[in-house]
Amino acid sequence: MNPVIESTLINTISHSPDETDAFAAKLVSRIKGKALVLLRGGLGSGKTSFVRGMCKALGMRELWEVDSPTFTIVNHYPGMTHLDLYRMHDDMEKEGLNVDEILASDDIVAVEWPEKMGSIYYDGPIYLVEIEAVANHENQRVIKISEHWL
Ligand SMILES: Nc1ncnc2c1ncn2[C@@H]1O[C@H](COP(=O)(O)OP(=O)(O)OP(=O)(O)O)[C@@H](O)[C@H]1O
Ligand SMILES: [Mg+2]
Repeated sequence: MNPVIESTLINTISHSPDETDAFAAKLVSRIKGKALVLLRGGLGSGKTSFVRGMCKALGMRELWEVDSPTFTIVNHYPGMTHLDLYRMHDDMEKEGLNVDEILASDDIVAVEWPEKMGSIYYDGPIYLVEIEAVANHENQRVIKISEHWL
């Protein structure tokens, strides 16, 4: 197996949803072709907001309102697939969803709750976006973005 190569791109505090959008746009500008974006963070930390920021940066103007996939697990946008695995409960569902096929896509794939994917294969750059609330600062988030290659 090749060694894992990792580098941190952003490790800072966002003070507002708009600032988080700007970080999402920075990530999009770095992506050339396919990429897997894994979003980790607690409930309500801002994972879907970050994905929406990516959508804006990709020019999907009418789709901003398309929110958290609350009942569906997967949303397809032009150039990007958004998976929210919070409600995916077992391997059967993972197969039903065909995660492997989605990961083989040439588009960007953004995944909330990637812990639920189990082990995966991905041929391309993987970006880990970690978002954390800051106690007593409602609109602040610690955001760390790192790049990884398997
Ligand atoms: N600096 C910030 N960056 C991002 N979101 C922020 C920030 N400050 C406040 N917020 C708010 O936090 C909320 C984040 O909600 P969002 O649905 O994106 O979270 P989530 O991590 O996807 O939650 P879930 O785990 O339920 O899917 C939004 O209402 C957003 O406006
Ligand atoms: Mg969400």
